[in-house]
Amino acid sequence: MKTSSLVAAVALVVTPVLALPVFAQKPPLKASAHKPDAIWRATCGYCHGSVPGAPELRGIGLSEEAVVTVARQGAPGMPVFHASEISDADLRVLARWIAKQPTPVKAAP
Ligand code: HEC
Repeated sequence: MKTSSLVAAVALVVTPVLALPVFAQKPPLKASAHKPDAIWRATCGYCHGSVPGAPELRGIGLSEEAVVTVARQGAPGMPVFHASEISDADLRVLARWIAKQPTPVKAAP
């Protein structure tokens, strides 16, 4: 299929680049960051609940599937997150975590 060969081609080009030390500070996520709260802070929380227009996602009753779908498809004002940026496994862990979070306590004004 055309899309998969494109993905494979991109992976072939991108993988060695990510291995270069000069890019070491900017991989999508470090191995130690595979905890959902760390993924949240690194990939979603700097917008969601932090900037106008990006709603808090925790504690609003979103389903795991809805989170995965929006992350992969993007939304107005929100980038698409590709598998090279957040793996399927990490996205699944993150979505499950978001779906079951209580509403966060708002910081005192
Ligand atoms: C650059 C800022 C930004 C980042 C980063 C971002 N989002 Fe968003 N997201 C938005 C905005 C803005 C909207 C609202 C779009 C709209 O109003 O239609 C949104 C909407 C959503 C929605 C729909 C919310 C609803 O109530 O239906 C989901 C789910 C979502 N984002 C998940 C994520 C996840 C998961 C991540 C991290 C992997 C993420 N977003 C990262 C900006 C961002």
